[in-house]
Amino acid sequence: MGYYDVFSWFYDASVEQHYTEHRGLAAAALDLGPNSRVLDVPCGTGGCFAAILEGLGPDGTLVGADASKGMLAKAQKKADAAEWSVDLVHVDGAALSADQLGSVGGSVDRLLIFLGMSAFDDMDGTFESLWSLLEPGGLCVLVDVHTEELGFQGRMVNLTARADITRRFWEPLEKRAESFTKTEMPSAPAHGGTMTLVTGRKPA
Ligand SMILES: C[S@@+](CC[C@H](N)C(=O)[O-])C[C@H]1O[C@@H](n2cnc3c(N)ncnc32)[C@H](O)[C@@H]1O
Repeated sequence: MGYYDVFSWFYDASVEQHYTEHRGLAAAALDLGPNSRVLDVPCGTGGCFAAILEGLGPDGTLVGADASKGMLAKAQKKADAAEWSVDLVHVDGAALSADQLGSVGGSVDRLLIFLGMSAFDDMDGTFESLWSLLEPGGLCVLVDVHTEELGFQGRMVNLTARADITRRFWEPLEKRAESFTKTEMPSAPAHGGTMTLVTGRKPA
């Protein structure tokens, strides 16, 4: 059983209160339409699902993927309780393939990576792989925390989330996307750094 399988049991109770507002801002940045096909990686316990589904019409589709079975089990429970239509895939983001996106025709037009870039073992490789699943013209939204210098709380966040919040997580998107934007979000000491939202469109 991996670290996040254990963390899944108290993840929502311990961290969710710090990110609710950011999930709404991320969903708004996705600029969702009635037919949007959204990939949310890592979806974790499904914390972003409600905000995304609010903007999706009945013909839209949402796929969530995560490397932790425990986190996905919580996401599935949440989806079942709310009767949400979400396809969940258990996979390392670096290995997610077009075949596993059958429900959305093998590719998506929206990609959300929320608190993932700081947590992926191989940030660049995983992003490259996920980016390849986004259609030309598609929109990518990244939300993460960043600090140049780790304070006590930053070290705690790194430890608790098995993350590295000193990463310049926006750079893989910045160098590939057009119409790149980078915005600071509301941040609190508990985040350990500055919550940041970046967006960019895959060149058509
Ligand atoms: C801090 S949590 C964020 C989860 C969710 N996006 C949220 O906002 O609550 C980090 C997640 O990344 C997942 N993860 C870490 N490395 C991964 C990888 N290579 N591929 C897929 N998921 C990964 C973990 O299992 C965990 O669910």
